[in-house]
Amino acid sequence: MLTLAIESSCDETSCGVIKDGREVLSNIISSQIDIHRRFGGVVPEIASRKHVESINLIIQEALDEAKVGFNDIDFISVTQGPGLVGALLVGLSAAKSIAYGLNIPLVGVNHIEGHVCANYIEHKDLKPPFVCLIVSGGHTYLIDVEDYNSYTLYGRTRDDAAGEAFDKVARAMGLPYPGGPFIDSLASKGNKEKIEFPRVFLDDKTYDFSFSGLKTAVLNYLNGAKQRGEEIVLEDVAAGFQQAVLDVLVEKSFRLSRELGRDKIVIAGGVAANKGLREMMETRGIKNNIGIFYPSPRLCTDNAAMIGSAGYYNYINGKTSPLDLKVMPNLSFLD
Ligand code: KG4
Ligand code: ZN
Repeated sequence: MLTLAIESSCDETSCGVIKDGREVLSNIISSQIDIHRRFGGVVPEIASRKHVESINLIIQEALDEAKVGFNDIDFISVTQGPGLVGALLVGLSAAKSIAYGLNIPLVGVNHIEGHVCANYIEHKDLKPPFVCLIVSGGHTYLIDVEDYNSYTLYGRTRDDAAGEAFDKVARAMGLPYPGGPFIDSLASKGNKEKIEFPRVFLDDKTYDFSFSGLKTAVLNYLNGAKQRGEEIVLEDVAAGFQQAVLDVLVEKSFRLSRELGRDKIVIAGGVAANKGLREMMETRGIKNNIGIFYPSPRLCTDNAAMIGSAGYYNYINGKTSPLDLKVMPNLSFLD
C-alpha cells in the first residue's frame, strides 16, 4: 500500500512516498528556515508563499526519488492541522487536487499524531502500547498510546510548549532561530549545576507542564547579570536551563509509565532531537528496565514521512476524509 504524503503546516514543505506505514521510499524536505531566521521566527505570509512556489516541485521530486508515478499511489495523506492556516491550505489544496484527479482516497492527518508515528518509521518493530512524550515547537503532550490510533491524554503544557521555551530563551541569549539545537550544543559544553533554575512540577498528582516561569527566571538572570556587569557564560545558562526542562519531562514520563505499567517510553517532536533529553531518558531507562525510543533527528522535526505513517494507520482503520475537508489551524490532540 503506497501513500503520497504532504506536510506544509509550518516552515517546511515536505512530500514523501511511504509503503505500508513504515517504509520510506522518499521523504523530501524543503526548509524555509534561512528565510525566516532573519525575522527571528516564522512569518506566516512568507511561509504560505514559499509553500506555493515549491509544493509541485517537491511532489514531483518525491515521486521521482521513490521511482513511482501518480498511478502507483493508493491514497493521499495530508496534514489537516494544527498549524498556520495559509500554510496548511497549500498542502491540503494540492492533496485534494491529486486525490480528485486520480480518484483515490484522501486522508487528513493530525500533525501531532504524525510526530508519534515518526517512531514507527525509525523502529520497524515498535508496537503499542507505550507512553509517549510529544515535545515540539508548538505542543507538549504526555500520552498513553494503547494502540495505533488509540490514545489517552494524561498531561499537556499549561502555557509555553517545550520547544517554544527553548526558542524564547535562545532568543534572549542572542542565538539564531530556532534556538533549540543551539541551546543543545551549548549545554553540552556547560556546567548544569552552576546556575540553579526552578523545576516546575506543579502539584505532584498532575502530569501537566508549565515552562513560562522557567523562561522568566532565565530572562531575569540574564538581565540581572547584565545590570550588575557580570560575565554571562552562555554555556552554563544553556546547561542550567536545559536541565531544568529535562528533569521535569523525564520525571513525569517515568512516573506515568510506572503508573500504567508500561515498559516503553517513546519521545516525539522536534525537541526529541535534544541530545541531553535522549541521554537522560536512556540512562534512567536502563536503571528502570524501560525501553527508550526516539526518531533520528531528520524524522523528529517536521517531515512528510511521519504524516504518511499516520495516514496509513488512519486509512487501514477506515478513517478517510471527504474532498471538502477543511484545514484546522487549532486542531488539538485528544480534547
Ligand atoms: O516538531 P517541530 O519541527 O515543529 C512543531 O511541530 O512545532 O519542532 C520544532 C522545535 C523548535 O522549537 C526547535 O527549537 C526544537 O523543536 N528543537 C530542539 C532541538 N532540535 C529542534 N530543541 C531542543 N534541542 C534540539 N536539539
Ligand atoms: Zn511538528
